[in-house]
Amino acid sequence: MTERFDAVDIIRTKRDRERLTTEQINWVIDAYTRGVVADEQMAALNMAIFLNGMDRTEIVDWTTAMMNSGERMNFDALSRTTSDKHSTGGVGDKITLPLAPLVAAFDVAVPQLSGRGLGHTGGTLDKLESIPGWQANFSNERMMEILEDPGCIICAPGTGLAPADKKIYALRDITATVDCIPLIASSIMSKKIAEGTASLVLDVKVGSGAFMKDIQNARELASTMVELGNDAGVRTVALLTDMSRPLGRKIGNALEVAESVEILAGGGPRDVRELTIALAREMLTLAGKPDVDIAAALDDGRAMDVWKRMIRAQGGDPDAPLPKAKHTLTVEADRDGYLGELDALAVGVASWRLGAGRARKEDPVQAGAGIEIHAGFGEPVQRGQTLFTLHSDTPERFERALESLMPGFAVTNTPVSLPESVILERIA
Ligand code: URA
Repeated sequence: MTERFDAVDIIRTKRDRERLTTEQINWVIDAYTRGVVADEQMAALNMAIFLNGMDRTEIVDWTTAMMNSGERMNFDALSRTTSDKHSTGGVGDKITLPLAPLVAAFDVAVPQLSGRGLGHTGGTLDKLESIPGWQANFSNERMMEILEDPGCIICAPGTGLAPADKKIYALRDITATVDCIPLIASSIMSKKIAEGTASLVLDVKVGSGAFMKDIQNARELASTMVELGNDAGVRTVALLTDMSRPLGRKIGNALEVAESVEILAGGGPRDVRELTIALAREMLTLAGKPDVDIAAALDDGRAMDVWKRMIRAQGGDPDAPLPKAKHTLTVEADRDGYLGELDALAVGVASWRLGAGRARKEDPVQAGAGIEIHAGFGEPVQRGQTLFTLHSDTPERFERALESLMPGFAVTNTPVSLPESVILERIA
């Protein structure tokens, strides 16, 4: 087959800061998916985009081309509307686990296609795989059945969904081109639009533990994604939320499942409960149910009931004990004061080094590895009090984990003013 364009011309266009046309973008994404454009050419193009950016039309075209590279799902046959949430990823971000059953408890179906962790941010599927028997892969037919009853599913996307993004994301990961707003926005939204959800809430993390370290960039990412979603007919809103500190008190796969179950039982850390309810409120509002009493469904066991049924529908045993790491190490306060600093990135990297995350896609993760934080940010602490428990199956990892954790917190003399909320802004 004669090709309509030449990859070298397209790379040169972007290298020279010119606009790519719709036809050029459609061709390069399709040709790369077919294997006609080589990895090194797509890597060069990604770097040119990283350095020189894309305008709104190019971003829409890039997103559409990636979406059209594979199948589009359709939930119109379901008896209820759908709503989904996507987080840009952070440390201790287990919100999907309690959120999906909470929203489903109000008769809104939640098709939560999730990923695995890479680097210091954990992956939802890795967390759930710590539940004995739980499975991540389902046919589209079985997925539809589970979305009818119990009404939510957290699973891996089928291989047919936005295959171009899969290839490009793997390439970006090894060529330092991940943290680029046009590429992140198009990557996330191509998958979410192809997934076919009727509405979508984006949780865009801001701070040391997130892709976006400052609020201006987070705002730009969020508004780009909200516009892409709404233009494609998916009702979309975004919350910007704080990721300068870890979310909750438990970081690591099985540890985060345990904390999610605390939230589903009506307890758990204040920040995790607050964000779960806020995101549920946005999802339910988009789904036409703005006035329901969300907190009540956590407190009276309705969300827990849906959680247990979802875990069973996915082959897991919600009542089985969760795996525990073979070794632990505690870190104590060396003086009286306040836990006045607690850096999300330091804690995330430490948990990853303990075995909770992976360095390469094919690496296994340890289900029980991670960190428990015993004192909340800003709380008074006493000399000798345990601040952290580190968990790992491989005790030789403790030293490298401590190298990351120790500079990431401080016991201060004066109290710090506590932020009122983890929610920084809403973008609609
Ligand atoms: N998550 C994605 O799916 N894609 C990105 O580019 C970044 C985060």
